[in-house]
Amino acid sequence: MSTQTSATAKTNAVLTYEGKTLNLPIVVGTENEPAADIGKLRSATGLITLDPGYGNTGACQSAITFIDGEKGILRYRGYPIEELAEKSSFLEVAWLLMNGELPTRQELEGFRTNITRHTLLHEDFRRFFDALPKDAHPMPVLAATVGALATFYQGPETEKHLQDTVIRLLAKMPTIAACSYKHSIGQPFVYPQNRLDYCSNFLNMMFATPCEEYEVDPVVAHALDQLLILHADHEQNCSTSTVRLVGSSQANLFAAISAGIGALWGPLHGGANQQVIEMLEQIEREDGNADRFVARAKDKNDTTRLMGFGHRVYKNYDPRAKVLRETCDRLVNKLDVSSKLLDIARRLEEVALSDEYFISRKLYPNVDFYSGVIYKALGIPTNMFTVMFAMGRLPGWIAHFMEMRRDPDNRIGRPRQVYTGATLRPYLPIDKRG
Ligand code: SDX
Repeated sequence: MSTQTSATAKTNAVLTYEGKTLNLPIVVGTENEPAADIGKLRSATGLITLDPGYGNTGACQSAITFIDGEKGILRYRGYPIEELAEKSSFLEVAWLLMNGELPTRQELEGFRTNITRHTLLHEDFRRFFDALPKDAHPMPVLAATVGALATFYQGPETEKHLQDTVIRLLAKMPTIAACSYKHSIGQPFVYPQNRLDYCSNFLNMMFATPCEEYEVDPVVAHALDQLLILHADHEQNCSTSTVRLVGSSQANLFAAISAGIGALWGPLHGGANQQVIEMLEQIEREDGNADRFVARAKDKNDTTRLMGFGHRVYKNYDPRAKVLRETCDRLVNKLDVSSKLLDIARRLEEVALSDEYFISRKLYPNVDFYSGVIYKALGIPTNMFTVMFAMGRLPGWIAHFMEMRRDPDNRIGRPRQVYTGATLRPYLPIDKRG
């Protein structure tokens, strides 16, 4: 198991307020990031902090993922994302994130076999899917189905039940994703095949039909595996923080993951990859003029944003986008697909990265900027892009849920607020109101 190195308190910060002085212990992580521990702030001074969007607030100490936004560094359990994307596999990275160490050959084989054997969905889910509209976006279908898994796998949350839930989620997520796609196009579901690896199985469930077998292209399966690795975790992002908050109430893992899927769907978060492709296609339809689109993204009076650009943490190139940029080139040539959208993306990047508006705000391509171009080249339908993000992020969500649950100091998450509403006033009978 991983040796979680707890952050060490070194010096203090001192806060003075209305004649009171409070020493705030400085907690320092293993990458020398300092944080002021404000655990005693309110009881000692009556103050709370105010930080909309939590841009300056650490919610927890975590040993899972390290990001240095200024340097564009991303590491899972200390391993650089670039090395894992090149040398590892998604299931190996899932094990690493959840257990803290790379698996032995025996551990990985056992993990892989266990997942393969839990890919089936209960047959009653057919009626569940049938009840949903055909034109439903796959993300709410995914969130609803994952939440409904809790009704099929009930029981007190013992360690074994939790471990079984982890395997069931990792195993069934691709099956649920493929079923949500087949449901949306009115085709029969395709059963998982135990002879196929994780990504090949997903592709087969997505694209095989009763009339025609689907030949998995190893280039496509490998690119998909790399995409899942690159999306596997990203410390305290919006959806992972959602999973932690829901899990902190002792709600079960199915419920927490379902909530994380809902948060990820937002266009400012995981929904951005679909928005990027729609943006590129809009530019292509209009006149392919990237420069005009960048001008709109800069215009304060225009709500247009350059989707796939900017990041709360990265103030440098998102290292995942760098890997995906190279994958784009490789895939577009290998799969002989139209590179028109890639050409537009490249032009957008070139114009934006030389524009003062983006430079001054340190807006660079993020993970979503190129991922959509790759998903499209792999034949994944646009409305499934965020589902792919959820499939990739699942082990990260699980790792954070487990880390939070295993922390003896963990408490239910319950932020405070600064109240700005009406002060005390008496109830008025309806005929006395203005
Ligand atoms: C993901 O947190 C994570 O780790 C997320 C993620 C993960 O792996 O989990 O990395 C995945 O969600 C990536 C981000 C995907 N979203 C997008 O690509 C949507 C487009 N980008 C944004 O809307 C924005 O950049 C955010 C949401 C990503 C970050 O928003 P912030 O940190 O709240 O920044 P902001 O909105 O306050 O922007 C700061 C300034 C503003 O201008 P000013 O008010 O200072 O003049 O930058 C501008 C913004 O208008 N700006 C953009 C822009 N992003 C920010 N202007 C044009 N186009 C953009 N994309």
